[in-house]
Amino acid sequence: MANQGFLLASALFCCLVAACYGVTFSSLQGQKTLVVTASPTNGQALKAGKDSITVTWSLNTTVAPGTDSAYKTVAVKLCYAPVSQKDRGWRKTVDDLKKDKTCSHDIVTRPYSPSGNTYKWTVARDVPTATYFVRAYAENAELVEVAFGQTTDSNKTTNLFQVQAISGRHVSLDISAICFSAFSILSLFGFFFMEKRKAKASQQRAYAENAELVEVAFGQTTDSNKTTNLFQVQAISGRHVSLDISAICFSAFSILSLFGFFFMEKRKAKASQQK
Ligand SMILES: *[C@@H]1O[C@H](CO)[C@@H](O)[C@H](O)[C@H]1NC(C)=O
Ligand SMILES: *[C@@H]1O[C@H](CO)[C@@H](O)[C@H](O)[C@H]1NC(C)=O
Repeated sequence: MANQGFLLASALFCCLVAACYGVTFSSLQGQKTLVVTASPTNGQALKAGKDSITVTWSLNTTVAPGTDSAYKTVAVKLCYAPVSQKDRGWRKTVDDLKKDKTCSHDIVTRPYSPSGNTYKWTVARDVPTATYFVRAYAENAELVEVAFGQTTDSNKTTNLFQVQAISGRHVSLDISAICFSAFSILSLFGFFFMEKRKAKASQQRAYAENAELVEVAFGQTTDSNKTTNLFQVQAISGRHVSLDISAICFSAFSILSLFGFFFMEKRKAKASQQK
């Protein structure tokens, strides 16, 4: 009975240890058995959401036979180079792999095979601007890391590449520009019809005045069929002036709004960077 209790307690303890503390990266240093390569050249810049990385991995052929008997899966990850971890606690390297933030972006997880592994990955849209390398962990049946390999040296200084994040700012600016252009066009139509109605009203008023004067006298510069001796008057069109003013107003409004959006996006970008 006491024995059973002890077994149960130690089993529970082991579970807790496994759940709370992962294996440490330093404990894997003797198990750098995977050879990992990635297509970007040293210093190459890739665009998130657009460019892709081809990763290959295999077991180092110099390892003793049976070294990989416990390997069940391989998890390939995108990892921050030290230069992009400076002053950023949320990307910190922690020896305990459960807490380590170095390799925060998953590329792919595949069943283990000692050779012939290739995967083409389009850089995910949420990958932030930074300098990276690629690391692969071999995991056992319990998904615990038992070996690794990476595209850079142990000091993480060689063979690094860059990712340039998608800027959300451009999309917002485009949307606001389209919205305000549409608003301007609608407003211009509104002014146009208002002016047309005003012109019609004043025309009707002019006829009324004419009607009052009709009985006073008669005489005209044209013949009775009103086909000779005619001349034309071109009215001052108030409409054009109104249109010009409204166009200027709405252009100014659009420009001010774009500036507003621009600064809002800038503040958002700054805030997310601090986060
Ligand atoms: C394979 O492992 C050996 C011994 O650790 C190492 O010297 C060699 O560079 C590795 N090969 C590759 C291609 O990384
Ligand atoms: C890593 O850096 C240490 C200290 O700067 C140096 O002694 C060591 O040779 C470096 N290792 C490699 C593989 O460059």
